[in-house]
Amino acid sequence: CGIVGYIGKRDAAPLLLEGLQRLEYRGYDSAGVAVAGRGGALRTAKSAGRVRELQARLPKRFAGTTGIAHTRWATHGAPTDENAHPHLDSSGRVAVVHNGIIDNAAELRAQLSADGVEFASETDSEVLSHLIGRSDAATLEDRVRQALEAVRGTYGIAVLHADFPDRIVVARNGSPVVLGIGEHEMFVASDVAALVRFTRQVVTLEDGETATVQASGYRTWSTAGPGTAKSPTTVEWEEENYDIGGHAHFMHKEICEQPEAVDRVLRGRIDDRFATVRLGGLNLDAREARAVRRVKILGCGSAYYAGQIGAQMIEELARIPADAEPASEFRHRNPVVDPDTLYVAVSQSGETYDTLAAVQELRRKGARVLGVVNVVGSAVARETDGGIYLHAGPEVCVVSTKCFTNTAVALALLALHLGRVRDLSVADGRRILAGLRRLPEQIGQVLEQEEGIAELAAGLARARSAMFVGRVRGYPVAREAAQKLKEVSYVHAEAYPASELKHGPLALIEPEVPTVAVVPDDELLDKNRATLEEIAARGGRILAVAHRVQETAEHTVVVPRNEPELDPVLLGVPLQLLAYHTALALGRDVDRPRNLAKSVTVE
Ligand code: G6P
Repeated sequence: CGIVGYIGKRDAAPLLLEGLQRLEYRGYDSAGVAVAGRGGALRTAKSAGRVRELQARLPKRFAGTTGIAHTRWATHGAPTDENAHPHLDSSGRVAVVHNGIIDNAAELRAQLSADGVEFASETDSEVLSHLIGRSDAATLEDRVRQALEAVRGTYGIAVLHADFPDRIVVARNGSPVVLGIGEHEMFVASDVAALVRFTRQVVTLEDGETATVQASGYRTWSTAGPGTAKSPTTVEWEEENYDIGGHAHFMHKEICEQPEAVDRVLRGRIDDRFATVRLGGLNLDAREARAVRRVKILGCGSAYYAGQIGAQMIEELARIPADAEPASEFRHRNPVVDPDTLYVAVSQSGETYDTLAAVQELRRKGARVLGVVNVVGSAVARETDGGIYLHAGPEVCVVSTKCFTNTAVALALLALHLGRVRDLSVADGRRILAGLRRLPEQIGQVLEQEEGIAELAAGLARARSAMFVGRVRGYPVAREAAQKLKEVSYVHAEAYPASELKHGPLALIEPEVPTVAVVPDDELLDKNRATLEEIAARGGRILAVAHRVQETAEHTVVVPRNEPELDPVLLGVPLQLLAYHTALALGRDVDRPRNLAKSVTVE
């Protein structure tokens, strides 16, 4: 979900709506806005659907120079007008926008109802406005603090109060809040994306912090007591990174940006002299790197699949046992936390709650955790011991493309680094460096095949379901490709290790269920060919992504060869285009697929 706030001299509503539009990709089933008019009285407007629906619904008289706004991704309660934020208290003098989940909402609702409070929505968030509204503490800050003492759960909130119209009070616990500093005006947001058009100077709140935001400046608190003004940082991303350019969709723009994105993740990191890489942010010296006995990569969704590619690279290049696991599963199963294991948390946003919770649990148990993160200064970046930034630039489309690729490349860098302080030879180090350098150009060559891939997508759009297969290096590529197709086109897809097909899912193969096969020219080529034969023999149609034409396949997308360890990076790219064009053929809302959010900052 997204939060935006403004306080200053300008009319707040247009600025808030513009900010919301920038955040729409994060969660978008409803939206709402509240402003404090002259004398403080609050005006609100809410609407199910997109920000533009809210805009259409905004009353003519909606003036006010202080306001808060929200886009919602439903967790409690359906996406209706009533459930949209801001939520008011019974007096209509308190407005709250909330990201996160209040765990004891049912309990608090029951208590408040017993006291005669009438709820206007089904949300957990509404308890916050009533709790704040009922507090009689002297300051708004204390009222907010008192309310937060009663709740358990996660939140990023912004509060507007008719009796305190000169301020917005915000608080963070597990859900991001940033302040943007302007000239005699201040902004609040859950993501810098909403701020970059207005200011580059930002302050990121930590968990447990509250802040008062006024037109003249801000103060932050970590506990009750005198506040401080944390020093602001400058965000490096430019506003135009958030513009779609000449592309029809952000997904397309971000797929096409991959040659430059990969170039950026490599920049300044290649060390030709020692045939290795320099990863200054790791905070791991050679002795510590040599002592690593195991690597465990954690992430959710595409980040997890990129982690699987990385784990294989680490095993191959550094010969350290490595695997990837969904962070969401890991944190719930009381994992054995081992001091000789290096844990790596992978997250584009750095704010995915499941990944962050896994990091926090690991830290509590004394583990060393690295972050592979795109958003500089995000929660995962702050709470890890070191890491590698992706430098992919902002990723706006809900589904990950360039950050997936850059994650795989960043993990290749880690693999090379770990390999070279152990027993990877100079020659192999050079070979991998040369391979890494070839990637941007080769990705460009894959992108040139877009037209042909679009034609193949038209066929896939008619499929009832699709099977994606790959062996060893190809398997995580197949998993990510199946995920991408499901996310944007809603065509059902299943990914399987090619070797496991005959142990079950071969039963599904028929002409209406095509197979997309990832077939690199590696030591497993013959085995993969045998799998293709098995599929063809059952009447299955095959689309191969391979280093050379596969006779058994109806079509082959030929991808340039790199080094076998790095091939997964390139094999994934045409499959992004395939998902994109399948979604287009089916008329889907590519950048904002139904039911999904860019980063899930709730449990
Ligand atoms: C959400 C998105 C996925 C994404 C995942 C992890 O579920 O819909 O596309 O891969 O979060 O996001 P992260 O920001 O942690 O990489």
